Amino acid sequence: MQSQLRKQLIDAFTNNKDEFLSGQYLADLIGCSRTAVWKHMEELRKEGFELEAIRKKGYRIVKTPENITADEIRFGLKTKFLGQSIHYEESVESTQKIAHRLAYDQAAEGTVVVAEEQVAGRGRMDRVWHSPKYTGVWMSIILRPNIPIPKAPQLTLLAAVAVVQAIEEVTTVTPQIKWPNDILINGKKVTGILTELQAEADRINSVIIGIGINVNQQMEDYPEELRTIATSLSIESGKRINRADLIRSAFNRLEHLYELYLEKGFLPIKLLWESYAISIGKMITARTLSGSIRGRALGITEDGVLKIEDTEGIVHQVYSADIELE
Ligand code: BTN
Repeated sequence: MQSQLRKQLIDAFTNNKDEFLSGQYLADLIGCSRTAVWKHMEELRKEGFELEAIRKKGYRIVKTPENITADEIRFGLKTKFLGQSIHYEESVESTQKIAHRLAYDQAAEGTVVVAEEQVAGRGRMDRVWHSPKYTGVWMSIILRPNIPIPKAPQLTLLAAVAVVQAIEEVTTVTPQIKWPNDILINGKKVTGILTELQAEADRINSVIIGIGINVNQQMEDYPEELRTIATSLSIESGKRINRADLIRSAFNRLEHLYELYLEKGFLPIKLLWESYAISIGKMITARTLSGSIRGRALGITEDGVLKIEDTEGIVHQVYSADIELE
């Protein structure tokens, strides 16, 4: 109940950005007393919001906090369902683990888990995902699409496009995507996406999209072995990036693309994905569980599967692999 009121309050300021809203106006809008409004505003101040309060004019939000808070993410969020329920955690093993539990317990579509730190962050192929405190975006999103199981990987590509667009919106850098969903800047990895399913034999119950974005790390924050292959938005842009802005933008973009996908299918997403893809037309080596394939990346199929033409002219379809560019 409390958080519902807080959400309505944030929505009111979102819809009237930079304007003063009077205590009476807010009280009428959300159906509580002016004292209750005052108490909520004080809570926001404690969370790190900078507020201006002027007699007879009301309140205005001047600056949002440095640490991520669920309220700050909501401030400016334009989605219908994505991010409307946010589970914010200070420190977790993995946001994927929490999102799996929530999805199993019937959490609504669009529910997200955001953490400041993961102590056991998971990457693709059972790798560890380095997720230090207050520097990155570590989050998992629950979707419940009514699509056949083999189409689920398309959502990973969709999420990669959404994150690239969010990075372009919030920073000055232009990232590229390495199949299927590594996001690179100047050849170094800035984002990884891990998509997991809860499904029955022929039906998806939920898709959990885990997104890790390296945002404000500096080179010295990385362990030695990652320094040549990983980077952050701050390193590449030379600026500190507001993580809540990035998360909000990713939610707005992801929901838009997801609705487009449900209405029109994968084709518009495929075209967008290809426009950001780094590997198409290039010589690559794909390391799969059953061996390596070296050849030219031709593109992706309607299902998001990578097509590689090897040096003998044979075209392979690759469902899961690590890609090395030449
Ligand atoms: C990759 O290997 O490239 C995928 C990395 C995915 C990392 C994210 S961070 C949020 C979510 N929680 C996890 O434990 N992993 C994903």
